[in-house]
Amino acid sequence: MSRSAHPAGPRHADVLPEGHYSAPPTDLNALDSKVWAETVTRDTDGVLTVGGIDVKRLAEEYGTPAYVLDEDDFRARARAWRTAFGSDADVFYAGKAFLSRAVVRWLDEEGLNLDVCSGGELATALSAGMSPDRIAFHGNNKSVAEIRRAVEAGVGRIVLDSFQEIVRVAHIAQELGTRQRVQIRITVGVEAHTHEFIATAHEDQKFGIPLAGGQAAEAVRRALKLDGLELIGIHSHIGSQIFDMSGFEVAAHRVVGLLKDIRDEHGVELPEIDLGGGLGIAYTSDDDPREPHEIAKALTEIVTRECEAARLTTPRISVEPGRAIVGPTAFTLYEVGTVKPLDGLRTYVSVDGGMSDNIRTALYDAEYSVSLASRVSDAEPMLCRVVGKHCESGDIVVKDAFLPGDLAPGDLIAVPATGAYCRSMASNYNHVLRPPVVAVRDGEARVIVRRETEEDLLRLDVG
Ligand code: LLP
Repeated sequence: MSRSAHPAGPRHADVLPEGHYSAPPTDLNALDSKVWAETVTRDTDGVLTVGGIDVKRLAEEYGTPAYVLDEDDFRARARAWRTAFGSDADVFYAGKAFLSRAVVRWLDEEGLNLDVCSGGELATALSAGMSPDRIAFHGNNKSVAEIRRAVEAGVGRIVLDSFQEIVRVAHIAQELGTRQRVQIRITVGVEAHTHEFIATAHEDQKFGIPLAGGQAAEAVRRALKLDGLELIGIHSHIGSQIFDMSGFEVAAHRVVGLLKDIRDEHGVELPEIDLGGGLGIAYTSDDDPREPHEIAKALTEIVTRECEAARLTTPRISVEPGRAIVGPTAFTLYEVGTVKPLDGLRTYVSVDGGMSDNIRTALYDAEYSVSLASRVSDAEPMLCRVVGKHCESGDIVVKDAFLPGDLAPGDLIAVPATGAYCRSMASNYNHVLRPPVVAVRDGEARVIVRRETEEDLLRLDVG
């Protein structure tokens, strides 16, 4: 992010302190279409509205903090991915980004498949009626019970992540008298340009089986020999919040290289290739994500070209976007509690949530934007840090942002692009209750995940 020179009129700082911020926007009331969904606008009173409902009403009815999710936007993004890849490919929504039963039903209706990575996600999918053959089951340490449940349910594919798991799944499938369709997840040795904690294709980490040293080829050899397994393809996921397509290009090249080696050694052409998820979204105005149709075109071209060169029949491609579908569809609505100006530094704006509803800033140094939501203001911009209510100084929601200088307790502020990995990574730290997810559509709002209550907390405390 660029850093500004001294911007016009910050209220509490003559010289701006170190930080990752651009110059204050000329109009603090404007909503940047990069980070705000199209359906979010301001009404004539300046109050933010989404899907035809204003946020003051939402706050009154459902309380704050709350994740406000625009169902039409979610469906439109899911559909855009589906359409972009067409009928020759499969889109598996990555449930880890955010999963609830309503989401599963929307995906089902929009023709997407689902990637789950735990027994809990599998249970959610099945309980919402997702057809098991449209579910892929991931994870580097699936338990025996989870594998058994997935095989019994008849999931469409299990993505094998280790040598031990190859044997484990084969054994369970055989015990249950079935042949499980599987893919093998490999690491292709790509350094994805993203935060270290969310990069997954380099070799020194826990996921997948390295291509290097012939390990992936050996995994294929073993899987092909086992009666309980039907090996249908190779899987690669290079990381998350990636904008640069070159990592996918290298990954596709290496995966196709393996498919070629498999054909040469075993006389088998595996019919599927999964390139994972990881496409980035805009959290701030500085991010420029690609559209699904561009991504689909690029990935399809890469795979087709590589397969032609290797004289292989082009396999069926699948992808697993999570963030790119749900991320931009929701914002978090907070009420401002205290506003604490620190002279020469910045103003600390405390909200009624924090790292328990958005751990991403603390964990990945993620950047977010924020807007005053309950009114407009002509006050001068002030440099702020939006922080939570937790007992930890790293409890930061938005590290550096400009908000109007007249911001006051009771104002509502909204942080956009919190649909992915915020509710799904939410915690009860300090026994703070996890916020609800309120879905809006056509002027109607409904809770799809309710707010946690003290009763919920105490129910688990049986000592
Ligand atoms: N497929 C696999 C095998 C994955 O491991 C993941 C994400 C995805 C697909 C979906 O990736 P997406 O399209 O959502 O980037 N908590 C982190 C992200 C962790 C991603 C883990 N795997 C964050 O908040 O940025």
